[in-house]
Order: sequence, then structure tokens, then C-alpha cells
Amino acid sequence: MAAGIPTHLNAGFSRVRAVLASVANARLFGKALRFWLSLGVVIAAITSSVATFLILNGLTSIFPTNNVVLSTLGINASFVAIIIGIIGFQVVQLLKARKREAGAGLHFRIAAVFSFVALFPAVLLAVFATVSIDRTFDTFFSTRVKSIVNNTVEVAQSYLQESGQVIRSDLVDVAREVEIGAALFTENKAAFERLFSSAVSLRALPAAFIIDSRGKLLAASSTDGPRYKAPPPADIARAAEGRIVPLSWDLANGVAAIKKLNGFEDAFIYALRPVNPNVFRLLQRTQQNIIQFQQLEYSRAQYQFVFALMYVLLALTLLASAIWTGLVFANRLVMPIRKLIGAAQEVSQGNLNVQFDDGFARDDIGRLGQTFKQMTVDLKTQRDDIMSANSELDERRRFIEAVLSGVTAGVIGVDPAGCIKLINRSGLELLGLPDDDGVIGKPLVEAVPEFGEVIEKGRRQSRTKPVHGQITIVRETGERNFAVQVTREKDDQADFGVVLTFDDVTELTVAQRTSAWADVARRIAHEIKNPLTPIQLSAERIRRKYGASITHDREIFEKCTETIIRHVGDIGRMVDEFSSFARMPQAVFEEQDIREVVREAVILFQMSRSDIEYKLDMPKEKLIALCDRRLLTQAVTNLVKNASEAVDAYRASNPESGKGRVMTKLRLIDHRFDIEVVDTGVGLPKENRHRLVEPYVTTRQKGTGLGLAIVQRITEQHGGVLELADAPVTENCDHGARISMTIPVSHGAERTEKDEARTNGQAELMLADSHLQS
Ligand SMILES: Nc1ncnc2c1ncn2[C@@H]1O[C@H](COP(=O)(O)OP(=O)(O)OP(=O)(O)O)[C@@H](O)[C@H]1O
Ligand SMILES: [Mg+2]
Repeated sequence: MAAGIPTHLNAGFSRVRAVLASVANARLFGKALRFWLSLGVVIAAITSSVATFLILNGLTSIFPTNNVVLSTLGINASFVAIIIGIIGFQVVQLLKARKREAGAGLHFRIAAVFSFVALFPAVLLAVFATVSIDRTFDTFFSTRVKSIVNNTVEVAQSYLQESGQVIRSDLVDVAREVEIGAALFTENKAAFERLFSSAVSLRALPAAFIIDSRGKLLAASSTDGPRYKAPPPADIARAAEGRIVPLSWDLANGVAAIKKLNGFEDAFIYALRPVNPNVFRLLQRTQQNIIQFQQLEYSRAQYQFVFALMYVLLALTLLASAIWTGLVFANRLVMPIRKLIGAAQEVSQGNLNVQFDDGFARDDIGRLGQTFKQMTVDLKTQRDDIMSANSELDERRRFIEAVLSGVTAGVIGVDPAGCIKLINRSGLELLGLPDDDGVIGKPLVEAVPEFGEVIEKGRRQSRTKPVHGQITIVRETGERNFAVQVTREKDDQADFGVVLTFDDVTELTVAQRTSAWADVARRIAHEIKNPLTPIQLSAERIRRKYGASITHDREIFEKCTETIIRHVGDIGRMVDEFSSFARMPQAVFEEQDIREVVREAVILFQMSRSDIEYKLDMPKEKLIALCDRRLLTQAVTNLVKNASEAVDAYRASNPESGKGRVMTKLRLIDHRFDIEVVDTGVGLPKENRHRLVEPYVTTRQKGTGLGLAIVQRITEQHGGVLELADAPVTENCDHGARISMTIPVSHGAERTEKDEARTNGQAELMLADSHLQS
């Protein structure tokens, strides 16, 4: 294929191909990279959503502080935004492709259906999740829960208060007793301590201390009770004002109170009763919980919003991931279909060279593609075959049209209904028909009724045997003979009508008849003339020898022998005339002034017949042509003689018609000279007009019928054409004949061009016939 392409161009082509291939590869690579990146983003988005869910629900070790919540939700939102961006990119690509690419609409619809289907679960999830959060919060913050929590605290506090009340009254009692023995404190410390211990143990207090205002321990009720821990100075200060001050329970790990001791310089009594540590812990926790609970209630809307946001983001992530998956799946599913639709569109527009990817998938669509490819290849092969057959047919048609328009024979194609479907130029000319537009589609028997019979015969004939025939067509211009051949166009199944070939054989027929007559004439002349001389001699001898001896009825004898001798002489002359026609001398061609030839013939009549007006119309300048002067003079003389006789005949039947006229015209038309004799006689007979040129065809009583036969022979010898027609109708005259001889100026003794053309035409017809049959 590249044989004719220079090497450097070839190298250029392969470089361009390589660049295109690398561009295609790069595009494929880019596509794959985009897919994997998108898939990574989708997986990361789903993972982050799940992580957010776990973190916000406290299912991980990460505590959902404000920052953590904000950042996880932020990451989620970013992922959702990226996926939406990816989807947007793909949708824009799809929308763009939808306008120009086949099947993009289908792609778009499938992707839309996927997205729609994905939308439902995502929205449902978001709605359900939000509603259930709401309900959870409602339950969590219901009044029952609140009252349970509050009651728990109240119970704990009541317990503590009661314990506090008990210890206060115990403290007052112990203080009263100690104040009574206040003097002992300075005087007898040991007695005081005993008093103090008994007062304390009497009230089953686990421990009591006497302290000063600085918290310094002055005396203790027992050594094995809880260890002393100085109360807060603020509480001591308040007790100094005279009140019984209860101590915060967590400080004392139980209930405790301080009271100023009256009667002492600076002393306070401080008693405590440890409470079950579990009660304390529970109380502590309950209080913490209450604080938390109140905080939670305070920021309930905030939590609700965060959870709703988390679920919305989760739903969005799922939705976007589903849409992306849908798009990718639609891509995978629809891409081969799109390619197929594109290919089908190309094929429908006539491009059968459409390219297919070689690797077809093994699914149904792959099989469809494979079948479509096979179908396109088959179509292409068939179309190529049809095209080549068509071009071959076209070539044949052109050839046949050229042949048909070139041949001189007429060719007519007739369909089975008998209408003309084709006619060549020669056919139109020969039949004198208008242009082919006027006859195509017309029934042949309407256009040329004379063909009817031969066509019928041809239709009945088998294909292998063409029908031959001869028909005569009579038109205003004259009568023409045609040799016709009818061939039937038929194969085993159908009938295609017939083909008619025909040629004008008028001249040929006449020539054949003339030559046949010449032959007959020669034989008859020969056969008749032979016995004539002995008959004549015998008659003369009888007259000479017995003339003198016959006395009786001698007159009759003389008359009879004379009649014999005279009639034998007449027969001899007739036979001479006969044979002179039969032995027409060969023409001797010489350059002559045709004007002289014509004048010579007409002058004889002008001089001898004054009752007829002989007119001569000739060019002024010489008209030199190759001809036999004697023969041509004889021909013109015959024509003028016939014209004169026709005028005579007319005058005989129309005595008042006046002087007749015979006009002889000589013209030079297109290298041919035309001698035309027009008279005002009876005119040519309508029937069998063409046979007038045959020997012995005459309508005159005294005529031999050889005149026109001789004129025809002479015209043929000069390569010319003899035409018999009616005289042109004028105002004064509507009768008469017009006989014309048209002869080529330089014919010489050669064949005429027309003869040659006819031979060639027949050869062409035969060639075309054989071509068709091949
Ligand atoms: N000018 C004409 N006008 C009318 N009829 C003509 C004319 N010329 C020829 N014919 C007809 O053609 C016939 C044949 O003519 P042709 O010259 O061959 O023979 P003829 O004239 O009859 O006899 P011949 O010429 O031997 O005396 C004539 O009988 C006549 O009917
Ligand atoms: Mg004549």
C-alpha cells in the first residue's frame, strides 16, 4: 500500500500514529487514575462517617470534646463536598456528551435512576436517625427521670440532715455538761477529760474534740476514735459568733458540728460521727450526675443539632457514594451500548468502515457487539459487491448506449405490456418519429401500427429463435421497406418483453428486384431472339420463293407473310429494348458541368412540345461533378418524358385546365447535386408507389414501364437516391408529381458513404448483440 509513498513521508506517518497512540494511552491512563482516586475518596468518606458515628456515640476511646466533634464533622463535610465535586464533573461530562454523542441520553437516564434509587435509603436513614435522636433525648429528659434523679439527691441529703440534727443535739448536750465542769479544765485536766469522755460516750459519739479558735486540739474524747483534723477556720469563726456550725460532710467523712463553749476562755467543741463511706460516695456521684444532667439539659439543642448534623452527613456520604457508584456502574453498563449506538448511527448514515474495539465482553452486550460487527462487515462486503456489479452494469449500459446511438439500424426495446421502453436515434429517424420523450412509454402498435404483427409473432417465439420479417411503412413522404428482427428478452422466470431491430432496405429491395429483372430479361431476350431470326428468314424465304407461284389469294399470302416479318421485327426491337435494359452499360465517370447535361435533356422537349411550358431553374455558375454524361442525360430525359406524359394525361381528363408545366431544377446542396422535375400532371399513384421503379410497372397503356427502372439504375450507378413524391401544393395547383435524383458531386465509381455506414452499423449491432449475450 505504501509502495508509492516516499520513505520520509512514511516515517512521518508512523511518528504521527505513535503520538496518537500515546495520546490515547495517556487518556486511558488518566481515566483509570481518576477512577481509582475517586474510589479512594468514596471509601475514605464512608470510613470517616463510620468513625464519626462511633466517636460521637462514645464508642471509642476518643472523648467527643467540642474540638473533636467539630473536626470529625468538618472532615466528613469535606469528603462529601469532594464526592459531590466528582459527581458534578461526571454529570457535566455527561451533559456535554448528551448533546453530541450517541447513547449519552441513555447513560444519563440510567445514572439518574441509580441516584434516585440511592436517594431513598439515604433520606430515610437521615429521617429515622434524627427522629430517634429526638425521641431518645425526649425520654432522657422526661420528668420521671428528672424526679428520680432529684429524689435520690433529696434522700441522701435528708439522711445527712438528719444525721446533722442528731449530732447537733448531741453536741449541745455534751457542751452543756462540759461547761458545767469548765472549772476542772484548768484545775484538774484529767478529771475534766474523764467528764468529757463520759459525756461523749454517753451519747455514743465516735469522737469529739475541744479546740481553740486557731484549731489547736485542747482535749480529745478518746484516743482510739477517728484522728483529729482541724476544721476550716471560717467554720470556727462562725461558731465563735455563738452558732452551732455544721461542717461540710465531705470534709469530715461523716456528719460534724462545732460549738463555742461558754465558760471557757477560748474553747470550742467539735464532734463528728463518721457515716458509711458508700453513702458518701453515692451522694457524691449523684450530685455529680445531677450537675451533668443539668448541663446536658442546658445544651440539649446543641447536642441534638450535632447528632442531626452527623446523620445528615452520614446520609449525604452514603447518597453521594451511591450516586458515584451508580454513575460508574452506568458507565460500565452503558459505555458498550453507547459505542454500539454510535456505530449503528454511523452505519445508518452509510459509513460501513466504522471502527470497533476488538475485545468484546462475554456478556449479552458483548455478543450483541460481535453480531453487529459481523453484520456490518457482511453489509460492507455485500455493498462492495453491489457497487462493483453496478459499475460493471453502468459500463455495459454506456457501451450499449454508445453502440445503439452509433448504429444506423433502428433498435426498439418493448416491455411485456407492449410499450416502448427504449428507442435509439436511428430508430426515430427511420420511422420519422419525434424525439424519444414523445414515444417512450407509448404502446408500439400506436406509434408504428405496422410493427404489430411481427411483434406478436416475436412474443410467441422462443428466446433462442428470433423472428425475422419485412414490413412496409407508408407515410406522406413515401413508402419504405424495413427488414425487422424481433428477439425475445426472457429468462426462466420472467418475461422482459422484446427487442426489435430494423433497417431500411427500400433501396436494397429495389436493387434486388431490378437485378432479378435484369437477369430474367437477359435470359428471355436470349431465348426469344434465337428463334426470331430463323422465323424472319423463313418468312422472307417463303415470300421470295413462293411469292410468284401463288396466284390464288396472293393478297392474303402477302399480308400474312408481311405480318409475320413485321411482328417478328417488332418482337426483335422489343427484345432489343429489353436487353438494352438488361445490359445497362457500365457508367464512365468524367468531370462534367451538370448544367449542360440537364439543359441538353430539357431543350429537346422545349423545341418539340410547345403545348407544355418547360421551365429550367439552374445555378448561374458551373456545377462540375463526376458523372456519365450519356446515362445522366438519358435519366433526365426519361423524367421529363414521364412528366410530359402525366401532364398530357391530366389535360386529357381536364380539357379546360390549360397549359401544363414541367419545371426542372438543379441545385447544389451539401456536396450533392439535386435534379428535381416537378410537373402539373396527374400525380403519382398512391398505392405501390415504390414499385414504380421496378421494370415493367406502368399505368400507361403504351408504356413499357422501363423508364423509371432505368432512371433508378442510373441514379444507383452514380451513388445517388431517387425520390418519388407529390408536387408541392401551391395556390394554383394541387396535383402533379415531384421526382428528384440526389447524387454526390464526387461519387466516382466508389461505394457511397451510406453503404459503408450501413455495413459498419450492422457489424456494431452484431457486436453489441454478442456483448449482451455474454
Ligand atoms: N411524372 C409522373 N407523373 C405521374 N405518374 C408518373 C410520372 N412518372 C412516372 N409515372 C408513373 O410511373 C409509371 C412508370 O413510369 P415509367 O417511366 O417507368 O414507365 P412508362 O412511362 O409507363 O413507360 P415508358 O417510360 O417505358 O414509356 C408510369 O406508368 C406512371 O404511372
Ligand atoms: Mg416513362
